[in-house]
Amino acid sequence: MVKRADLKGDRFYKSAKELGYRSRSAFKLLQINTKFGLIRAGDVVLDLGAAPGGWSQVAYGLVGDSGLVLSVDLQPMENIADIVILKSDITKEQETLAAIKAVLNRKGHELVDAVISDLSPQLSGTKDYDQFRSSELSTSALNIASALLKNNGNFVAKIFQGAYYNEFYKSVKAKFRYTRAHSPAASRKGSAEMYVIGKGFSVRKRKKG
Ligand SMILES: C[S@@+](CC[C@H](N)C(=O)[O-])C[C@H]1O[C@@H](n2cnc3c(N)ncnc32)[C@H](O)[C@@H]1O
Repeated sequence: MVKRADLKGDRFYKSAKELGYRSRSAFKLLQINTKFGLIRAGDVVLDLGAAPGGWSQVAYGLVGDSGLVLSVDLQPMENIADIVILKSDITKEQETLAAIKAVLNRKGHELVDAVISDLSPQLSGTKDYDQFRSSELSTSALNIASALLKNNGNFVAKIFQGAYYNEFYKSVKAKFRYTRAHSPAASRKGSAEMYVIGKGFSVRKRKKG
């Protein structure tokens, strides 16, 4: 848990306030996208675990008016102009997929160009359990991405490092032409979080586990 006093000296927290981003995490996506080029103008982007909305704001800035950002979270999320918000539990994969497909269909799309996931479980304080919950969320994000990405689509998902990390990395590697793990400068020092990047989704591997 980050204390309010610690945030005061945090340059990303300050910059987020100044620039109107809803979270300091916005800078993590900006840094990841600068390094890996996952999101382009005109893309359809699915943001999983989107609340309060920092990543969605960044994604919208990147896709522009010709693109679409669809943001999914368990928690209610305050509206952001031109972004579609869906309240859903992503671990209920089939239900969430059906709801996402209905929105895409309404907007004239079938598949998406990029899936970005900053999903985090509510921390219990028990490291092993939190790592397990994080891996469950990341795996659901990968399953949803595998059902919805276009050929050559891109993916990034947060996962806590620990016992389940290698297995998750391997599952991403099995579906994408290029895979990397990255910790952006905006991640807090000592944080267990890692971002696994998959570029170039292979539709031939859509159903492969
Ligand atoms: C670290 S926050 C995301 C911050 C966001 N990227 C931003 O920049 O504002 C993680 C989010 O994951 C969401 N989450 C956790 N479990 C979820 C689930 N099963 N389904 C959907 N969202 C979930 C939480 O509600 C929380 O809003």
